[in-house]
Amino acid sequence: MEILIRDTPEASAQVAADVVSKIIRERANLVLGLATGGTPLRMYQELIRMHQAGKLSFQNCTTFNLDEYVGLPPEDERSYNHYMRSNLFDRVDLDPAQTHLPDGDAPDLREACRDYEQKIKDAGGIDLQVLGIGANGHIGFNEPTGSLASRTWVKILSEQTIRDNSVYFDNPEEVPRHVVTMGISTIMEARHCLLLASGAKKANAVRRMIEGAVSASCPASILQMHPRVTVVLDEEAAYLLAVKEHYKWIERNKLDWQRY
Ligand code: GLP
Repeated sequence: MEILIRDTPEASAQVAADVVSKIIRERANLVLGLATGGTPLRMYQELIRMHQAGKLSFQNCTTFNLDEYVGLPPEDERSYNHYMRSNLFDRVDLDPAQTHLPDGDAPDLREACRDYEQKIKDAGGIDLQVLGIGANGHIGFNEPTGSLASRTWVKILSEQTIRDNSVYFDNPEEVPRHVVTMGISTIMEARHCLLLASGAKKANAVRRMIEGAVSASCPASILQMHPRVTVVLDEEAAYLLAVKEHYKWIERNKLDWQRY
């Protein structure tokens, strides 16, 4: 894992936006995996700023989001579909036909999951997958103890995740219990993963992901088995890491071509 630690959430969002914009500029027909939640918002704002300054175009990108709530139609303000349109898609030059989210409102959810996997395959697989991390170590909506070999599927949220995500709803009762999420195998097939975490609330999950045993108890720990992962943290999210100074030493001593 490449671990990049910055003093503030703003500085780490800048690094994340640099990683994303670099690959967009370098690769034609890029397939980008995207995440929702509070964490990537600053990164999206920075990408929009680059686009508005004429320095970044998404015209040749195809996107696939990680997850969606079951039962919330795209026009529902609390859906991830709505989140993506208002926080990125509608503000850059992405072709709407090239943006994809799991369909949590499909009449046949299992069919929708298979269809989503097929679409990712048809697009040639994901080049760069942006990830956040739940306080319990989930990635996408793959909750602890779920299969580490999963593909896009319907998951039941843990009570902790319902509580954590209730800030985006009027009350916890309104948070859907079910979600559609890319599976762990789907995520692991992305050629490069970029995981962002900020704030002390994530510090324990970050420690388990990077320095703990690979275990379904912390789904993000499976990323230790991925050949190319960049983790961008702020100091608060990094504060429980046992060898934080070592990660900083490694970053300082990288050769130019070794940097994301
Ligand atoms: C949510 C999303 C994840 C996200 C994580 C952290 O439940 N499904 O994809 O990475 O939890 O969210 P936040 O960034 O708001 O802390």
